[in-house]
Amino acid sequence: MRDMTKANVLSAYSGESQAHMRYAIWSDKAAKDGFANVARLFRAVSHSEKIHAKRHFMAVADSFGAADNLAGAGFGYGETLQNLEVAVGGEEFEIAEMYPVYKAVADLQAEKFASVGFFRALEAEKVHAAMFHRAIEAAKAGKDVELGPIHVCPDCGFTMEGDAPDRCPVCGEPKANFVTYA
Ligand SMILES: [Fe+2]
Ligand SMILES: [Fe+2]
Repeated sequence: MRDMTKANVLSAYSGESQAHMRYAIWSDKAAKDGFANVARLFRAVSHSEKIHAKRHFMAVADSFGAADNLAGAGFGYGETLQNLEVAVGGEEFEIAEMYPVYKAVADLQAEKFASVGFFRALEAEKVHAAMFHRAIEAAKAGKDVELGPIHVCPDCGFTMEGDAPDRCPVCGEPKANFVTYA
């Protein structure tokens, strides 16, 4: 793999790894404070980020070494509203800057596997940001967010709410394989 794409893959791997854990921790916090749907949302999105981390990990599976964290992953243990606001900030950075730039570099360098991984993550992050915004609006009113069943595609991490489509719109995985957080 070309050096610039590899650096970006390692950065994305460490960013997604931390997001996976951060959301799991914030899920527990939301559950403890009575936000059952926010807890479920964080749990589903945590799963999605793990799938992204794995894809990036596998993109560099033929090499060994340390992955420095270049992604600027956030941390902090606040109230649920604050945790959601940090979460949406991270998602929006990935949507507006990180993944489009990483994908452009991978395309320029003809690194197809990495490019597809960046694209898949980008598509899921858009949904995560929208769901977190809904949860923020509810939390500002002192309420838990109303959310139907949340489905996570096990192949690409795409995240869907409500009635699941027959196939993942991003990677084509059949609905029967989706993991549902209801
Ligand atoms: Fe995300
Ligand atoms: Fe998918």
